[in-house]
Amino acid sequence: MERKLALYLLFPFVFFTIVKTQHDNVCLRPELAANIQMDGLQRFYSPGAELALSCKQGYTPVFGPRKIVCAASGEWTKTKIMCIPKQCPYPDTLSNGELHYEDTVFQSMINYTCDEGYTMFGNSSAVCLADGTWSTPVPECKAVTCDLAPIPLFGMIIYEKRIRGNTVDFGVGGTYKCNPPYIVVGNARAECTVLGIWTKTPICQVVTCPPPENIDRGYMSTSERRDYNYRETVKYGCSGNYVLEGSYEIVCQANGNWSEKPSCKAPCSVGIEKARILYKGKKIWIEDLTPNSVLHNDIVSVYCMDKRRTCGYAVQTQCIDGNLKIPECFERPRAIDYSLYSSSLPSEITQC
Ligand SMILES: *[C@@H]1O[C@H](CO)[C@@H](O)[C@H](O)[C@H]1NC(C)=O
Ligand SMILES: *[C@@H]1O[C@H](CO)[C@@H](O)[C@H](O)[C@H]1NC(C)=O
Ligand SMILES: *[C@@H]1O[C@H](CO)[C@@H](O)[C@H](O)[C@H]1NC(C)=O
Repeated sequence: MERKLALYLLFPFVFFTIVKTQHDNVCLRPELAANIQMDGLQRFYSPGAELALSCKQGYTPVFGPRKIVCAASGEWTKTKIMCIPKQCPYPDTLSNGELHYEDTVFQSMINYTCDEGYTMFGNSSAVCLADGTWSTPVPECKAVTCDLAPIPLFGMIIYEKRIRGNTVDFGVGGTYKCNPPYIVVGNARAECTVLGIWTKTPICQVVTCPPPENIDRGYMSTSERRDYNYRETVKYGCSGNYVLEGSYEIVCQANGNWSEKPSCKAPCSVGIEKARILYKGKKIWIEDLTPNSVLHNDIVSVYCMDKRRTCGYAVQTQCIDGNLKIPECFERPRAIDYSLYSSSLPSEITQC
């Protein structure tokens, strides 16, 4: 305040003129629409004064005069000038990548991303500058590559594509082979991954299986107690009326184990007396089944009585490894019925 007063005292003339002109029609410093600027810092303008308007950096003027004049009324002449943001050129597309942007005007931003398996070379974003150009050129997305695949001892790889130079693009793979008698242990196929490294490399090994073991109630095609090589086979059989279940041949596998051995399944005796059975499509009296033995998996039917309707019906049962379950509906006939009235047995009467 003191200082202001001092100024007035020092420059009474200046002070006087300002106060005086305020009573006349002067123009006040104009209020400008967005992004418009003008020269000068004055607060008051006399009638007749001209003011040049321009756009802020990054904006282009459109419409109307760019000059306003202070009229005698103390109003500025009208202008429809507008400043619109500068336009940057539409960006080039990015091969193996994507552009993300909302607009292409001053201060807009483009973000670039590369597809999976591609690495970016250059700047991942660009901004539209005040001069209408992008701040950085479009980056490049280059495929991730691997060095050539590692080769195991005694082995080789056969690429599924022709390889140029000393790198392999991601996604390209190959198949490993080993020189006999070595075999590939692990995954024979390998691939260059998006991380730029190969999937696990297999190894080349000589594979053997231990001497094969015999099976219960059976025999083997060999009695040699030695290690067997990969893919060698041994056959099995069952003694007597035992039935072989599984594969009759086992093979020495790449993991050094034999494939699954078969087993021998026991025959069954049909545990009923004094009745007829249905076996292999024939109705026979049980005492005529000699010996009383059916093979594993064989199907036998016994006859039951439907008491309400007084008719007979066959019920199936199966021999499973020495076990043949007699259906619960089967009734042992009384000796007298069997010898004197055998025609009244469920197997002999009308069938339901
Ligand atoms: C570009 O990336 C920046 C920074 O991660 C983010 O703020 C902006 O929203 C992104 N713009 C677009 C258009 O994706
Ligand atoms: C990308 O460009 C921006 C702006 O030009 C700059 O600040 C930044 O350092 C650049 N980044 C890279 C990784 O080049
Ligand atoms: C080989 O068989 C043994 C015994 O059954 C088992 O423990 C082992 O895991 C098998 N080896 C391979 C490589 O499968």
